[in-house]
Amino acid sequence: METAFAIPIRRTTKSRLDQTRFDRLAFGKEPTDHLFISEFAGNEWRDPRIEPFHDLRLSPFALALHYGQTVFEGMKAFRMEDGRISIFRPDKHHERFNRSLERMCMPAVPSEIFLQALHELVDLDRDWAPTQPEGALYLRPFMFASEARLGVKVADEYIFMIVATPVAQYYANPLRVKVELEYVRAAEGGTGYAKCGGNYGAAFYPTQQARAEGFDQVLWTDSRHHEFIEESGTMNAMFIIDDTLITPLLTPTLLDGVTRDSILTLARQRGMATEERSISWKELQAALRGGKRVEAFGAGTAAVVAPIEWIQIGSEGFGCYTNDDAVMYSFKRELHAIRTGSQPDIHGWNYVV
Ligand SMILES: Cc1ncc(COP(=O)(O)O)c(C=O)c1O
Repeated sequence: METAFAIPIRRTTKSRLDQTRFDRLAFGKEPTDHLFISEFAGNEWRDPRIEPFHDLRLSPFALALHYGQTVFEGMKAFRMEDGRISIFRPDKHHERFNRSLERMCMPAVPSEIFLQALHELVDLDRDWAPTQPEGALYLRPFMFASEARLGVKVADEYIFMIVATPVAQYYANPLRVKVELEYVRAAEGGTGYAKCGGNYGAAFYPTQQARAEGFDQVLWTDSRHHEFIEESGTMNAMFIIDDTLITPLLTPTLLDGVTRDSILTLARQRGMATEERSISWKELQAALRGGKRVEAFGAGTAAVVAPIEWIQIGSEGFGCYTNDDAVMYSFKRELHAIRTGSQPDIHGWNYVV
């Protein structure tokens, strides 16, 4: 793809690529050689540039450390069959980034900067994109309030960065999840639809409780009734019951997942029935008790499709269908085929670098 403007690049003189064990990648541990950075001050984005990966110097007064103005995105770049690299739906991630920023009173990042920075960084660090099946280059744009000031206020200064890390397949094993009937991830009027750091920090405690009870994740429910399924960890919740793909309607308490949207699009394209609507755990329970075949899975950038093999609802637990012929896996395969170029990209999802 043509580049709009060139971002100044300072290359590393000591690449770590050769020392990186691609056969032993742990998610998010190994940065690529470079990062993108730009500062917002005086009401404008300054000095967008790519530099060797480095630590930051930050004032202990930096507002983000105290009041949590911090927003991030997560997307992946894939090595295509013909050797080119494609970033999956960066425009949709950019839109969501700006929606999150608005909710957190943080300045928008113009698409020229966001897309060009991604393009240049991926181009420069393209050799870091793993060659193994389902490996990818994970891209993490993020922004935080850097202004040094202890007062509770909206910051006037921010840092926007993009870092990248090679990743292998995520969540290899089917998940055991617990329907959360006590804690809340997001309430109406809150920040649920924003990818802001606080949402994740607040989810740790209930998730740790669930882990201690032997589950991998919680399935969040609505804050009023603890009845309607919302999402799970870093994934949107999807179900296939009676050949229909059902997923909670997008509300301000849910993250508008790019994977969710992509799977819904593929399902509709196949002529599969899809329903975006409220789904209560009672409905799930009735289907499972009635012996229906229920496929349940999490949809998200990291895992793409994470099969759920067990759903715990109060004291009762149910097995879900995870056999090899489950329909959910076909979405994962199809997305993989589109991203790697073995199936036509009719929706224009691949941004080829
Ligand atoms: C809370 C939450 N829900 C859902 C998702 C899935 O979104 P996406 O498919 O865009 O990765 C994520 C991951 O970004 C998430 O953090």
